[in-house]
Amino acid sequence: MDVYKIRRDFPVYTGGDNDPIYFDNACQTLRPRQVIEASTEYYLKYPACAGRSVHRFATEVSIRIDESREKIASFINAPSSKEIIFTKNCTEALNLVAKGLDLKRGDIVLTTDIEHNSNHVPWMQIARSKGIRRKFVETSKDGVFDLETFKAMVSKDVKVVSFAHANNVVGTSIPAKDVIEIAHDYGAIVILDGAQAAPHMRVDVKELDVDFYAFSMHKMLGPAGVGVLYGKEGLLEKLDPLITGGGAVSTASLDEIEFLPLPDKLESGLLNYSGIIGSSAAIDYINKIGLESISEHVCRLNSKVTDSLRNDPAIEILGPKDCRLRGNIFSFNIKGLGSHDIAMMLDQMKGIMIRSGMHCAHPFFLKRDINGCARASFYVYNTLEECQIFVEAVREIAQIFSN
Ligand SMILES: Cc1ncc(COP(=O)(O)O)c(C=O)c1O
Repeated sequence: MDVYKIRRDFPVYTGGDNDPIYFDNACQTLRPRQVIEASTEYYLKYPACAGRSVHRFATEVSIRIDESREKIASFINAPSSKEIIFTKNCTEALNLVAKGLDLKRGDIVLTTDIEHNSNHVPWMQIARSKGIRRKFVETSKDGVFDLETFKAMVSKDVKVVSFAHANNVVGTSIPAKDVIEIAHDYGAIVILDGAQAAPHMRVDVKELDVDFYAFSMHKMLGPAGVGVLYGKEGLLEKLDPLITGGGAVSTASLDEIEFLPLPDKLESGLLNYSGIIGSSAAIDYINKIGLESISEHVCRLNSKVTDSLRNDPAIEILGPKDCRLRGNIFSFNIKGLGSHDIAMMLDQMKGIMIRSGMHCAHPFFLKRDINGCARASFYVYNTLEECQIFVEAVREIAQIFSN
């Protein structure tokens, strides 16, 4: 993998000294020219609506959307492209499942105690509206999931197990295959929030036997505003649509409606066609590099940063010490400083962009009584040189402010 060649595909890099250092990839990645061009082509050449009109623009869009759906299905090894539902992000995909399942008062939904709010708040709402019960699998201080703790909590009353495949604060991942097997033994449905996993690890939904898998294309080189929900066909068919209206019904009289088959039933209203078409180019781009090369690369970067900063007494690294357990994520705090201050200083000093705050994962921080953290997250175009600049800047800030 030639990172310098890859960087030439990304218009934000001009090759000069003022190139930004973008380490906010767990939020959104940058996009290569190929993705931008594919998305723009929609507006330039066939700016119409799929699946409704019969003219040539509409036909072209329909073909492109079908192609993208097929490509995403094969990327995660989904048995059928009907099992791929387009949403506007991972959050909407998780809401679609949570609110569409037929859950009853007293049913237990099991999550961990460190979920992203997108896999926490919807369940809170359902607890209030339908009376479901919530239980939380406790993780270690470092945010590590323990299979034995999970086993002790799962029972016949657990109807849904909904976990992040990889965590967004500390980057830890769960043993998904074991979790799914155990949950299925008890008859529970398993939902995986793959927002942080899909950009980095090979996800094979068939092999995992997972029931639902949600992720966002904008965290994996795709355009903003495209989410994906994979679901087993039989389960998607039973799911109540989150949004209803045009494009999802075959007929609607004044008192009867008949839904279209999958995937249309769950995709009411006009979709983000440009984004979906760009997503297909993003998948091509990732496939060309290979997910294994991407994860090896980000691990190398994380290892450099971790090794360089781990012994500084003013810097506290969150999560496991072994950076291989943290994927592309390096979260930290500097004694005496707030995380937003760290982020602003890094940007102003060296043009380094990171994320700061609670990362939409308030339960993680509240439980540990930590007031947020700074988070650097790496992707395919980041370099060891950028990491060196980051390390030096963090050391400098730590030296000035921790005294
Ligand atoms: C683990 C996890 N789940 C869900 C989401 C929500 O993704 P989106 O904002 O794309 O809906 C994120 C976003 O950072 C995330 O990290």
